[in-house]
Parts: sequence; structure tokens; C-alpha cells
Amino acid sequence: MQAATMRLNQNILLLGKKVVLVPYTSEHVPRYHEWMKSEELQRLTASEPLTLEQEYAMQRSWREDVDKCTFIVLDADKWRAQPASPEESCMAGDVNLFLTDRGDPTLGEIEVMIAEPSCRGRGFGTEAVLMMMSYGVTKLGLTKFEAKIGQDNEPSLRMFRKLHFEQVAVSSVFQEVTLRLTVSQPHRQWLLEQTSHVQEQPYRDGTSEPR
Ligand SMILES: CC(C)(COP(=O)(O)OP(=O)(O)OC[C@H]1O[C@@H](n2cnc3c(N)ncnc32)[C@H](O)[C@@H]1OP(=O)(O)O)[C@@H](O)C(=O)NCCC(=O)NCCS
Repeated sequence: MQAATMRLNQNILLLGKKVVLVPYTSEHVPRYHEWMKSEELQRLTASEPLTLEQEYAMQRSWREDVDKCTFIVLDADKWRAQPASPEESCMAGDVNLFLTDRGDPTLGEIEVMIAEPSCRGRGFGTEAVLMMMSYGVTKLGLTKFEAKIGQDNEPSLRMFRKLHFEQVAVSSVFQEVTLRLTVSQPHRQWLLEQTSHVQEQPYRDGTSEPR
């Protein structure tokens, strides 16, 4: 299954209440690159700064990667209000799934970043994670999720705990906490209920198509 896994999301858009998830395309790279110049975001996401060229290369490689699934998080209100505008103007962050354990294809590591400060604290991160988990469970056959979070990143730790993740490990070397959610049958039902409003639509690169 893995070989096809990550290209699955290349042509789909997931429409939620607060956020819209779209595949990461070259159109999104300049804004993404701007965000990652922030030292705070580099620290919170444990990322190294890249040049613009490297970011374009990263975007291309993520797209081809068989063990990674990336969506850009758009502000749904802005996206609906400005159908003719480039998506760059409504970008809020990103959400990723990595299949990190080759021995266990049912485990996904999830990462989320709501990079736009004006978009934080409004439920975007929560909805993006729920939508990504629902996608992982229904489309990729995942049954376990992990999140690795800096031990001082209180907002992120709180958000994942509210989503029923539990701490399973602490790395003093990386100063990071691993949280895990095993999707039992009741959890699966809860997740599908939380995301029952989400609509999947076809996505075209550089969406010039009318919405
Ligand atoms: C952490 C992050 C993803 C949360 O997303 P968000 O959209 O701002 O969060 P939500 O509005 O969905 O909030 C969900 C819960 O998270 C917690 N939370 C969010 N922001 C918080 C803050 N500033 N302080 C404390 N708790 C916070 C709360 O428990 C909140 O629930 P509540 O509103 O009922 O209290 C986002 O703030 C972010 O990306 N920050 C910078 C990058 C980062 O840290 N990424 C995570 C790397 S692992």
C-alpha cells in the first residue's frame, strides 16, 4: 500500500468548517518560505531554515515521497470569500503525516503548524488534525497516531491532549515528548463524527477553476 499512499492526496481538496486542506504545490512555496524565516517557528517545529531554492526542492520531493502526506491549511472563510485570489493569500499553516515505522504501516506521525499568528487559537489546528486523522484512518488504513512535541510547547501539548493523545515517552536529548493515540472502535466513531461535515473535492494545481 505504501507505494501509492502519498500520491493519493495529490488531487484532492478537503473542505472543513474552518479550514480547507489542499496538497502542497509550488504555488504555496513563497509564503511557506516566508513563514519558516521565523526563529520561533523554527524552534517550535524543530526545523532548519532553507533557502527558497531548497524549499522548492523540498516541496517537489515531498510530493513524490511515498511515506509522507502533506496538506496546506487554508483559512476557509477567506478561501470562500475570495474565490479568484491566489491561495497564497489564505494560507494558515500545514499538516503532515509521516509513515515513520517501516515495520508498522498502520502508524502515522502527525505534525501541524498554524503559522499565521492571526489564525492561531481559533480552532484551525484542531480541525486540521481531526481532518488529517480521519483521512489517515479511512484512506491510509492507519490505526495509531504519534505526535512529537517540544516539551515547552504548551499550546501544542494541550491541543493534542484535548484530542485524546496520551504521553508515551520523553526524550531528554531532544527535549521532546511523544504523544500517542490508538484509534479504538469508539475513537474511530468519534473521529468520523467530528469530521462528518468534511467534503472531498477534486483539486487542480494552481486552481484557476471556479469553485
Ligand atoms: C500549536 C498549534 C498547532 C495550535 O493550533 P491552534 O489552531 O492555534 O489551536 P486551537 O485553536 O485548535 O486550540 C486547541 C487547543 O489547543 C490549546 N491551545 C491553543 N493555543 C494555546 C495557547 N496559546 N496557550 C495554551 N493552550 C493553547 C488549547 O487547549 C486549545 O483548546 P481551547 O481553545 O478549548 O482552550 C498552533 O498554535 C501552532 O502551530 N503554533 C506554532 C507552531 C507549533 O508549535 N506547532 C506544533 C509543533 S509540534
